[in-house]
Amino acid sequence: MIKAALIAGARPNFIKIAALGRAFTDSGHFSNTLIHTGQHYDAKMSDIFFTQLGMPEPDMFLGIGSGSHATQTAAVMVETEKVFTANRPDVVVVVGDVNSTVATALTAKKMCIPVVHVEAGLRSFDPGMPEEINRIVTDAISDLLYVSEPSGLTHLKNEGVPDHKVIFAGNVMIDSLRRFEEKARATKYHAEIGLDAGKYFLITAHRPAMVDNDDQLRVFAHALLGLAEMGDVVFPIHPRTSKRLEAIGLGPKLAANGRIRMTEPIGYLEFMNLMMHAGLIVTDSGGVQEESTALAVPCATVRPNTERPVTVDEGTNELMRLDVDEIVAAGRKALSGGWKTGRVPELWDGKAANRIAEHLAETLPTL
Ligand code: UD1
Ligand code: UDP
Repeated sequence: MIKAALIAGARPNFIKIAALGRAFTDSGHFSNTLIHTGQHYDAKMSDIFFTQLGMPEPDMFLGIGSGSHATQTAAVMVETEKVFTANRPDVVVVVGDVNSTVATALTAKKMCIPVVHVEAGLRSFDPGMPEEINRIVTDAISDLLYVSEPSGLTHLKNEGVPDHKVIFAGNVMIDSLRRFEEKARATKYHAEIGLDAGKYFLITAHRPAMVDNDDQLRVFAHALLGLAEMGDVVFPIHPRTSKRLEAIGLGPKLAANGRIRMTEPIGYLEFMNLMMHAGLIVTDSGGVQEESTALAVPCATVRPNTERPVTVDEGTNELMRLDVDEIVAAGRKALSGGWKTGRVPELWDGKAANRIAEHLAETLPTL
């Protein structure tokens, strides 16, 4: 059996690791150790995913918590080094682009343990995004790079990564979506909370570039007030954003609008149910861009760039400026049925994690 350490720290990681952990176990080749760094720790940002996605309890919880980039990254390195020293894995698997990803990859690589990056090759070419630094560094030191969309192949080639390290495997986020889609539909959550299918706006926002800038956050809040003139607005709020909204006193103004529902972060199944029935999703999330494309639901991404261009080129995603009129116009277009349609990208078929498990089991002995 191959001893695989699977690393998860933040909300999007749990969804990806759920698919990988299951596929690794099912393949019969791996014995998994699931390590939760503790980057996200609120029950609604962490525990609920383990429960709803049917994941085993983490074998280890490192309790890193919040902090500056250096503090958080360094703490993950210190703790993962202890863990890998006490029980050396044959391979370390990291996903996505969060601080826990790059920190663990650095630790493992310096201990000469093979590192596998799932969701490699994505690039926004925006060095102001902390995730872009994490992606570039993680890809530069990983031994195998599993790519979720064609742009990833191009970027890694351009960066000189040898072809034999790069595998187009598909999207493990969508593996979880396909596995839980029917269960999410069956919750009827949108109806339960009184929302009409196709007529409401689902909002998420957590990028520092938007929410840590008071002026930008005010514009976004005004866009939500504009959308609320056309339909209900449901906004499960990321903890980073709720702190910022509170700090600038905007929370009560939004909440006072009878058509805007501000909630804590919600569970994966409930959130997927809200996505699949939304008239338009307005977001700055990475994962939501992909999930909306897989579900064929209109998505307006309020960012100047995306590291997931396939969602724009083939899917239902459009980039938006942070501009009240532009966002309100997008809402009008989506509710009137004028949004573009898309197709599901290649290899977003629910089997990406199985392909990775088989390929890795075959290739690891040759590394
Ligand atoms: C992190 C990732 C980001 C990812 C996002 C997913 C990095 C650099 N950023 O951003 O790429 O898109 O997760 O959601 O890794 N907080 C809580 N409770 C929690 C977690 C966070 O209150 O359970 C608050 C803390 O005040 C914390 C802030 O949210 O300081 C930000 O958390 P952090 O993990 O540093 O970054 P995210 O914005 O969540
Ligand atoms: N999500 C959720 N509840 C919420 C908001 C998001 O379950 O209230 C899920 C959703 O599936 C999304 C995923 O969490 O794709 C990742 O979240 P996030 O946007 O925080 O991270 P990113 O993908 O931007 O790194």
